[in-house]
Amino acid sequence: MMTPDSLHLLDSRRSVPSKQLAEPGPDDATLLRMLQAAVRVPDHGKLVPFRLLRIQGQARHALGEALAARTLQLDPQAPAAAIEKDRARFSHAPLIVTVIARLTPDHKVPEQEQLLSAGCVCFALLQSAQALGFGAQWLTGWAAYDEAIGQMLGLRENEKIAGFIHIGTPRLDVPERERPDVAALLSDWRPPSVVSPSNHA
Ligand SMILES: Cc1cc2nc3c(=O)[nH]c(=O)nc-3n(C[C@H](O)[C@H](O)[C@H](O)COP(=O)(O)O)c2cc1C
Repeated sequence: MMTPDSLHLLDSRRSVPSKQLAEPGPDDATLLRMLQAAVRVPDHGKLVPFRLLRIQGQARHALGEALAARTLQLDPQAPAAAIEKDRARFSHAPLIVTVIARLTPDHKVPEQEQLLSAGCVCFALLQSAQALGFGAQWLTGWAAYDEAIGQMLGLRENEKIAGFIHIGTPRLDVPERERPDVAALLSDWRPPSVVSPSNHA
């Protein structure tokens, strides 16, 4: 089967682990271009249920320090390796774009759909970063769900972190991993056979 060129980007998309993302990151103009493509997501009700928070430069290290301190606060016996891991989490890639879901509760568009739109932004950003020659990885980790860290990042009521998208220049070619077998995932829905009243005894 002929593969249209337009599928190339989708077929070649893969994450580059954040530890393998180095300088340079995108400059301001390139980032805006990348984001412009990434926000073209399906959006039921046109609510724009997301916003974007940039973490770069010294702010990455400050966030890492906050994570390390929070880990120690939650578990004063936390192993040194765990604390170091948290300290370094945001220091590998030159840039992290936090995609924040802005949910409107009790709206006719269910919150799940709003969250899905924010998730689409995360995925589209992975693609647009790769299209512009960068590598990216969508990470959450405990910090995405921790109330104190959320407050530090300025999360407002009804906001959730959909993902931290780490972006930079790949240090290596990431090997392909096994992908799902779509033929095995695909099935056909068939309407249940209707028993007509005349067939009843
Ligand atoms: C919502 C979400 C959160 C994720 N969080 C993490 C994470 O915290 N740590 C991690 O190692 N991978 C995480 N991943 C997986 C990576 O983003 C990525 O899918 C994985 O490295 C495999 O690479 P691939 O995108 O090429 O399949 C997450 C994925 C999603 C969709």
